[in-house]
Amino acid sequence: MTSGGTESILMACKAYRELAYEKGIKYPEMLVPESAHAAFDKAAHYFKIKIVHIPLTKLMQVDVKAMKKAISKNTAMLVCSAPQFPHGSIDPIEEVAKLALKYNIPFHVDACLGGFLIAFMEKAGFPLQTFDFRVKGVTSISADTHKYGYAPKGSSVIMYSDVKYRRHQFFVAPDWQGGIYASPTIAGSRPGCLIAGCWATMVHLGEGGYVEATRKIISTTRFIISELQKIDHILIIGKPEVSVFALKSDTFDIYRLSNLLVSRGWNFNNLQFPRSIHFCITLVQTKPGLAELLLKDIRESVSEIMKDPKGKTTGMAAIYGMAQAIPDRNLISEIVGGYLDNLYSTDPRPFAEAHMNGSPTAH
Ligand SMILES: Cc1ncc(COP(=O)(O)O)c(C=O)c1O
Repeated sequence: MTSGGTESILMACKAYRELAYEKGIKYPEMLVPESAHAAFDKAAHYFKIKIVHIPLTKLMQVDVKAMKKAISKNTAMLVCSAPQFPHGSIDPIEEVAKLALKYNIPFHVDACLGGFLIAFMEKAGFPLQTFDFRVKGVTSISADTHKYGYAPKGSSVIMYSDVKYRRHQFFVAPDWQGGIYASPTIAGSRPGCLIAGCWATMVHLGEGGYVEATRKIISTTRFIISELQKIDHILIIGKPEVSVFALKSDTFDIYRLSNLLVSRGWNFNNLQFPRSIHFCITLVQTKPGLAELLLKDIRESVSEIMKDPKGKTTGMAAIYGMAQAIPDRNLISEIVGGYLDNLYSTDPRPFAEAHMNGSPTAH
């Protein structure tokens, strides 16, 4: 168990980096779909692994041919998502597994978001392609108990097909004065209460509880998607198969739709490259009448926008749109870093005044 999806992903990347070093690969690389979670970029940054972003097909699934082309003697791991966060598509796991086997490369399936849905979909009446260790070549899977597992925030699972992979995740300092130190994950001391809370949640819900929750969530999502497909000027992106769907528009700036929906109390995420918005259905939205209310609000918001389809985007959406158009991505990192600094600042003066004039500031 780890503290969350990011740590589960970090651990798999760390394990495969060590394995690569053992094989004599000096500069390990990971091949990761463009849609995969930014935790892989974080792992690349922390562990000095080169990350190669592999493009997607129109269905927003990783392009297997492009992945094959990117394989080199330095490839330390392949990655797929089941499903990916932005558009809810599942990557072609069986095809990528064939590459993993052929070239003898470890293969991680990131099921952090939907792991506790996809595992129950067959029993809930929505069979999927096989995505787990039944597919030969899959060597690890991350799945978040603190998402659709309904456990308290701060718990996730990282699983391996063989102890030989897991072993490379561990850290041992045999010579420490404090004793022989061994630690399986990033944290030192770990919160037992979260693990107990997770266990209690699972025992309380039981398999039946998860299957029922999955049935409600997937049937609600499929209903919403089929109704959205009837609305002009908005399009569903890719091939959403689980609980997330994304929308784009060829007629108006889609961020205007998220602005209007936010003002009606719905929380749509703005996505980039391509410009789109997404929504994640959870158990809350399966309450009777809520799906219809969401659809009504989307229909009315689209009609309002269509009165002036080329109208200006305002508010946070305008800032988001502008940020996407800035070619120097370092500038974005600087600005966002400044925002985080501001969150931690205890100086009552505006951040720029406190930090940008070259004078040291006491905190
Ligand atoms: C597909 C996927 N992987 C990994 C993560 C990272 O999980 P966490 O936020 O728990 O670190 C997320 C989070 O949304 C996700 O959607």
